[in-house]
Amino acid sequence: MAVKSEEDPNFHQVLSFLLKAKGFDGHRYKPNYIKRRIAVRMRATGSATYRDYLGLLERDRLEPSHLLDRLTIHVTEFFRDPPVYKAVEERILPGLSRVPGGRIKAWCAGCSTGEEAYSVAILLKEWTVGQSTLSFEILATDIDAASVKAAEKGDYPAEAVQRLPRTLASRWLRMGGPRVRVSQELKHAIRFRNHDLLGAWEPALSGFHLIFCRNLLIYLTSPQQQKLYERFAQALSPGGYLVLGLTETLLGQARRFYHCVDVKHRIYQVLPRVDETYLEKQF
Ligand SMILES: C[S@@+](CC[C@H](N)C(=O)[O-])C[C@H]1O[C@@H](n2cnc3c(N)ncnc32)[C@H](O)[C@@H]1O
Repeated sequence: MAVKSEEDPNFHQVLSFLLKAKGFDGHRYKPNYIKRRIAVRMRATGSATYRDYLGLLERDRLEPSHLLDRLTIHVTEFFRDPPVYKAVEERILPGLSRVPGGRIKAWCAGCSTGEEAYSVAILLKEWTVGQSTLSFEILATDIDAASVKAAEKGDYPAEAVQRLPRTLASRWLRMGGPRVRVSQELKHAIRFRNHDLLGAWEPALSGFHLIFCRNLLIYLTSPQQQKLYERFAQALSPGGYLVLGLTETLLGQARRFYHCVDVKHRIYQVLPRVDETYLEKQF
């Protein structure tokens, strides 16, 4: 099936329809990525053109949800890219023991079904054990409500934790049978929430010492990436860290807000407070 180019006005109408129906603004993501994902639904529903597919979106009240599901890729895993977690442990955590009040604030932005947030929680639990003056809290957010619900449940197929060291798994997960459940103690350390990073940010999204935003920015257009890097810089406490996915690189204007701590593992440290009026002018 030949899917027409994004210049087809019906392509934009599909995106406008989705924005109205689901609040998801596809124009902020890379067009080729969005086109590929829409094509998956078009093939599945036998729609030959964007116009046909628009008609289906209007007729079938479930289709907008199916499309949204296709547009947000949820691939994730426990301790995805283990060397990144090792680098965080070795290069970042020692400095975090000096945060004022001993309370570390972390944010997993784009947490999908929760595996990343639980991995960060395990890392921090293991590291703070025996350090009675230290504690932490994790906020984990995603645009996709179904993923957030699954994350809150913390129930996974046993294969999801196969690569976890046995000692860690038995300490933090309830094993046995085909499913595993994360422990209540781990769950209590994390607050999961539905949130669109490209929408409004309330003032409470600030003061973080560590932000994981991995394998999300890669799907966004360059101006949206810049905007998010800037927003993360403002949400971080002075000297706080941003951890990106291994295929994501901080480029352009945003580089002036951060110092690269570990290029291989994509770990950046925010520089002292940025000039807010300058930022307002930019975006
Ligand atoms: C590929 S997953 C990455 C999950 C995890 N960070 C990891 O690296 O394993 C990308 C996640 O970003 C979420 N996402 C995409 N756009 C978003 C947005 N505008 N705001 C918040 N989350 C978003 C998707 O729903 C998806 O769950």
